[in-house]
Amino acid sequence: MKANIDIQTKEDKSYSVYINELKTLEFNTKVAILTNPKVSGLHLKTLLSKINANELYIITVPDGEEYKNLDTISYVLDRLNEHQLDRKSLIIAFGGGVIGDMTGFCASIFLRGIEFIQIPTTLLAQVDASVGGKTGVNNKFGKNLTGSFYQPKAVYCETSFLKTLPNREFGAGVAEMIKMALTFDKDFFEWFEKNDLKNEENLKYAIKKCIQTKARVVSLDEKEAGIRAVLNYGHTFAHVIENETNYCVYLHGEAVAIGIVMANKLALKMKLIDQNEFDRVEKLLKKYNLPTSYMIKNINNFYETFFHDKKTSNNKLKFILLNHIGDYVIKNNIKKEIVLNALKDNCIEK
Ligand code: NAD
Ligand code: GLY
Repeated sequence: MKANIDIQTKEDKSYSVYINELKTLEFNTKVAILTNPKVSGLHLKTLLSKINANELYIITVPDGEEYKNLDTISYVLDRLNEHQLDRKSLIIAFGGGVIGDMTGFCASIFLRGIEFIQIPTTLLAQVDASVGGKTGVNNKFGKNLTGSFYQPKAVYCETSFLKTLPNREFGAGVAEMIKMALTFDKDFFEWFEKNDLKNEENLKYAIKKCIQTKARVVSLDEKEAGIRAVLNYGHTFAHVIENETNYCVYLHGEAVAIGIVMANKLALKMKLIDQNEFDRVEKLLKKYNLPTSYMIKNINNFYETFFHDKKTSNNKLKFILLNHIGDYVIKNNIKKEIVLNALKDNCIEK
């Protein structure tokens, strides 16, 4: 099973995303695998049994978003130099989105760019982060503010790696999947309502649907000049929640789940969706134990924090909202009072 990414530029940036098709990978070059202790402890032996290379190096970095920074990149680049990787060498990302984003960034700047492959091991990374070539790290000003668009040569998603994923991490991935169904595919959303991802075949099917959606979007708009921004549905709110809670209360996908509900509240007030659609979305998120509400302490501060998002340009807020389930609308000029009115149910001080 595979999906193709076909980015339309002069340079050929096409690649395939394979689902459960990782057989033996042969490289007559040097290969470095970037991973962390948790993922390597659980799955590296399996991966190594599938890789043949001239020389193979494992580079391990600490686990966690707090290590997604330029210090870690510098550490990895030093190891790549020490092992004398050259322009024909390849790096493999083996881990979740943190490892994937850092591997892609290292690959994009080492010797002015070498090839890399994504082997994502979290659900979120399989359905979203590993596909589409956004790479980078955080800095003291915010998340993912240093980085590049740099596409992998291939992506291999193996559902067997997901068996060791904690439930909360699984749920965080499901939030991003529901996001894709809600914005692009009504039938898929209805499928989601009727089927359970605990079933392995269902999980494989849903991963494939999400990758196909993301592949289509990225193929049309690699650098987020248009339709790719729709993948940020729910994220405008989520980023404020993550910021207010210092990134240590919610996983990103959990904050996205709350963000989806907040965006839907706004869409409901603007009559873009109806109460029944609002309730169906909330019910599906709850089925995967995702949080759906967050108490805002100060609504004006919450609103002002929207403007710190890197997706806000020229001080203009852009909201991605549902135009009924399965379709989206991009709204640029929603009045502040309308946004505050939609958020007021989530406020401690009314
Ligand atoms: P993560 O990479 O931190 O992984 C979550 C946790 O799961 C980590 O502790 C990790 O070690 C562990 N883990 C990984 N695979 C496992 C497995 N198979 N079994 C058990 N534990 C496992 O987080 P994530 O949710 O995968 O990714 C979040 C990151 O991805 C963020 O930094 C975000 O900015 C980025 N992201 C990037 C894109 C993109 O388009 N590039 C899109 C979405 C998110
Ligand atoms: N995760 C959003 C994007 O890749 O654009």
